Amino acid sequence: MPKRYRDIAGDGGSNVAGQVAEQMVRLRARMAGVKHTVAVMSGKGGVGKSTVTTNLAAFFALQGWRVGVVDADINGPSLAKMFGVRGHQLRLAASGVLPARAALGVQLISMDLFLADDKTPVVWDGPKAETFLWRGTMEMHTLREFLSDVQWGELDILLIDLPPGTDRISTLRDLLPTLQGTVVVTIPSAVSQLVVAKSITMARDLLHTPVIGLVENMTAYVCPTCGDVHPLFGRPTADEMPLGVPLLGRIPFDPRMAEAGDRGTPYVLEHSASPAGQALLQMGEQVRTFLETAQAEPARSPVS
Ligand SMILES: Nc1ncnc2c1ncn2[C@@H]1O[C@H](COP(=O)(O)OP(=O)(O)OP(=O)(O)O)[C@@H](O)[C@H]1O
Ligand SMILES: [Mg+2]
Repeated sequence: MPKRYRDIAGDGGSNVAGQVAEQMVRLRARMAGVKHTVAVMSGKGGVGKSTVTTNLAAFFALQGWRVGVVDADINGPSLAKMFGVRGHQLRLAASGVLPARAALGVQLISMDLFLADDKTPVVWDGPKAETFLWRGTMEMHTLREFLSDVQWGELDILLIDLPPGTDRISTLRDLLPTLQGTVVVTIPSAVSQLVVAKSITMARDLLHTPVIGLVENMTAYVCPTCGDVHPLFGRPTADEMPLGVPLLGRIPFDPRMAEAGDRGTPYVLEHSASPAGQALLQMGEQVRTFLETAQAEPARSPVS
């Protein structure tokens, strides 16, 4: 008779709890070398979280900051592509996995760098009957490894690109009590904002971390030939910002942004003067101001 995990007395001799505790010690030591940690999130999928993360990373790298990026989207990783490092051979050093190095020295870790080919998804090799139970645990384990077992070195900022949905928020709270704030991305449709308002509440209540601000993406269309800006949603939304969260910027739709992502170049490196480029750079400035102001203030009491 095969044993089910609930038949095993204790932890079956694996000392799982001890291993996790050790990893948390490594994680804390690793994160001690990171000055600022910011997560980019949204309840909604496909609204531009990874694009915002990529361009925020480029903004900070342009300022001379040492930047690390964690692609926390384990099942739909896109940052290796957006940073042009797909297929990069990861190397293991004595102190951990060396992250991939992208443009401007941005360091990146992503599940994409561990996958053998383009089509294979991440499949959890756990008890089949309880796959739905294990998936969240395995994802948390992977994220913990990305934080603890990657040789990040000293960083000025670590950006975490979260997958859509709100269920990873509690994971982050457990793994990263040092998280300083979140950037929330939405598109200006009532449908998106309805969902995003919930993730803002969760981020505040569960993470006890300020929402640095909201980024409204795809607010207008910029004609690639004449440069005219056409609003995509027929109404202004500044006064409708969910829960009074500050607006970090409105980024128009620019087809060149998708092209830049596909080519693996952060958009702001090539189009800093365009309306979308300006909006992204101003968003970066505001995040920077937030972080530098927060650092000057006394530390928050730790999350209980
Ligand atoms: N302002 C924009 N103009 C043009 N294309 C954009 C813009 N913002 C994002 N895109 C494109 O839209 C697509 C989705 O963006 P992105 O992958 O950043 O969203 P996401 O929120 O991270 O998605 P997911 O929820 O799947 O993680 C990408 O191809 C990206 O290049
Ligand atoms: Mg994404």
